[in-house]
Amino acid sequence: MRKLSEKIQGIPPSATIEITDKARRMKKEGIDVISLSIGEPDFDTPGHITEACINALNEGKTHYESSRGIPELCSAISDKLNSENRVFTTPDNIIVSCGAKDTIYEGVQACINPGDEVLILDPSWVSYDPIVMLADGKPVHHPLDDVHFQLKDDVLEKITPKTRMLIFNTPSNPAGSVLNQDSLNLIKDICEDNDIIALADEIYEKLIYEKEHISVASLGDMHERTITVNGFSKAYAMTGWRIGYASAPDEIIKPMTKIQQHTISHPTTFAMWGAVAALRGDQSCVENMRQEFDNRRKYITGALSDMGMRTAPAEGAFYAYVYTGGNDIEVAARWLDEAHVAATPGTAFNTPGWIRLSYAAGTDRLREAMRRISELPE
Ligand SMILES: Cc1ncc(COP(=O)(O)O)c(C=O)c1O
Repeated sequence: MRKLSEKIQGIPPSATIEITDKARRMKKEGIDVISLSIGEPDFDTPGHITEACINALNEGKTHYESSRGIPELCSAISDKLNSENRVFTTPDNIIVSCGAKDTIYEGVQACINPGDEVLILDPSWVSYDPIVMLADGKPVHHPLDDVHFQLKDDVLEKITPKTRMLIFNTPSNPAGSVLNQDSLNLIKDICEDNDIIALADEIYEKLIYEKEHISVASLGDMHERTITVNGFSKAYAMTGWRIGYASAPDEIIKPMTKIQQHTISHPTTFAMWGAVAALRGDQSCVENMRQEFDNRRKYITGALSDMGMRTAPAEGAFYAYVYTGGNDIEVAARWLDEAHVAATPGTAFNTPGWIRLSYAAGTDRLREAMRRISELPE
């Protein structure tokens, strides 16, 4: 047996992808599985965005470009962050990568030395730990409170002289909750007092229903120490396009750019032109999708509550996070095997006992899923 990378062998495969694969296998066998384990909008990319991409192809925009991304897109992103998020940045402080996932990877690689601790707020998205481990960093977890899903000051116990970065995600995948001003102020104070870099994953920013989204980089001096990550996958139904971005200070953007120069070079040129159209074009497509998700959110949280199930505050993203009061892996397996409803156990997000249901599925399928779960014998 050839000796291969022990580091990679020590990294678990993505739990969410495993469940989606099992559901897919069952479907192939002819079983009517309702997939509520998926993390992508069930809408197609709006027409004016695909059209801009096709036009770019026809116009010969098929060549190498600047490593940080085409200037037109860096400017559009910078304008968006300045006007919508009060993150005062310039096009020179923007990097465009192959999806927010790639952006997070580059951000962590750029900042972390072996043995540095990276504080991650739970429930946490499945890729944060592996990304930190790929940089030889040490993930350290701290839970949000399990009722309001906000940050409390007991987080201070987790800060050590080795804490280099804090990663969090709002609106949250998997909880659907949104961090409030108090939680974000606490993050700001912790980062400023302890010279910690914040990596704010804001990929679900546009899918928000009951609260205002606040970018931590807009608070105090946080722009000097924040990597603000966002992208096009969720807001514009562009998961397959693989376009994400970050805004960060020079000292972080430069090493991120170096990583990009020696790995992907830059995201696909004509796809970036589609992203320009997404940001510069009419935003009603985003609002229409948001409203549809909101209707589904109201339906599914109502149905779960009627079944006596407690959920995290469903304020954003497209997930209902359900407390099972039992073994989440066994409950999710039962829902899949007996009700043919695919959901993701909270263990995958470092919060055993919970289950994530994605409502990025049509209302008829959601109704059928709720019916099947409610009819399972006790
Ligand atoms: C919290 C979170 N961050 C980042 C990503 C990655 O998004 P992208 O498709 O832009 O890589 C996802 C996708 O599921 C996500 O849920």
